Amino acid sequence: MEIWWVGRILILLLLFPRIFGWGKEGHYAVCKIAQGYLSEDAEARVKKLLPDHAEGELATVCSWPDEVRFHYRWSSPLHYVDTPDFRCNYRHCRDCHDSAGHKDRCVTGAIYNYTMQLTSGLNVPDSENKYNLTEALLFLSHFIGDVHQPLHVGFVGDEGGNTVTVRWYRRKTNLHHVWDTMIIESALKTYYDSDLMTMIQAIQRNITDIWFPDISSWENCNSTVCPDPYASESIDLACKYAYRNASPGSTLGDDYFISRLPVVEKRLAQSGIRLAAVLNRIFSPKLPIAKE
Ligand SMILES: *[C@@H]1O[C@H](CO)[C@@H](O)[C@H](O)[C@H]1NC(C)=O
Ligand SMILES: *[C@@H]1O[C@H](CO)[C@@H](O)[C@H](O)[C@H]1NC(C)=O
Ligand SMILES: *[C@@H]1O[C@H](CO)[C@@H](O)[C@H](O)[C@H]1NC(C)=O
Ligand SMILES: *[C@@H]1O[C@H](CO)[C@@H](O)[C@H](O)[C@H]1NC(C)=O
Ligand SMILES: [Zn+2]
Repeated sequence: MEIWWVGRILILLLLFPRIFGWGKEGHYAVCKIAQGYLSEDAEARVKKLLPDHAEGELATVCSWPDEVRFHYRWSSPLHYVDTPDFRCNYRHCRDCHDSAGHKDRCVTGAIYNYTMQLTSGLNVPDSENKYNLTEALLFLSHFIGDVHQPLHVGFVGDEGGNTVTVRWYRRKTNLHHVWDTMIIESALKTYYDSDLMTMIQAIQRNITDIWFPDISSWENCNSTVCPDPYASESIDLACKYAYRNASPGSTLGDDYFISRLPVVEKRLAQSGIRLAAVLNRIFSPKLPIAKE
């Protein structure tokens, strides 16, 4: 009897693993892509900050913020930002707060927060550091991914698609979960032999071939980090692709999958490139100021 319950709980955990963010595969892909674009300085700094069990691979720990979201309850609202229903735009001042109205408690606020912690803590000895920079690195890497998931900048009324019940092929789920996980899982099975590395390599090929001319505009940012334009892109994509033809109760199948997968793959690519760009800006030594 007891065994049966344990089994049942395990199955439930497997079926409903997470509600906050690209699934494990999405975050792994974002961080794996980013690692390939780190400068030497940034790569060395990142490796020093990673926990031992990561074995030098940022990608293996990019889902950590999802794993601690119950333990660190305060961090839950930092995975997303809600925007007014059907407005299809995002404004930092208007939208970046938690449900109790506390300012800056949203994904873009968190990205500024952890970027600031890394920048300001860089040359301070560990013992004097106010912040845990390992956690700051993992939160930043995770949230750069989340802000690119269109429904992490969705409507407040349906909690970014979480309350929009749909079927993904025959399976009952919600629209948010389709975008976090199901599109990627179906793509893995259908096109990539269930192998995440094969999918990542396909995205990397697109980065070096067809998206190459766009990379510098993706990286473009006039300060250390620029999460607000990424959030604006996300809500625009949410309206044009995620919510469209996905009303509550609808069944999403081939048409939806085939037309939305390229959007997901491009967002994974953009998050990876932009994560590398911000880590490079944070960790590359400042150019010396011209001497007199
Ligand atoms: C900033 O980071 C600290 C340390 O993790 C955390 O306690 C605080 O809630 C964060 N605030 C925001 C807005 O991210
Ligand atoms: C920083 O955070 C990590 C992950 O939560 C933890 O394992 C580590 O002990 C913390 N480091 C310090 C110095 O508190
Ligand atoms: C690569 O780009 C093409 C053209 O935009 C797109 O159709 C395809 O889905 C992309 N594949 C990946 C893995 O990003
Ligand atoms: C940097 O870009 C932001 C958003 O695009 C803009 O609001 C801001 O004025 C710019 N700052 C400078 C110094 O150009
Ligand atoms: Zn998340």
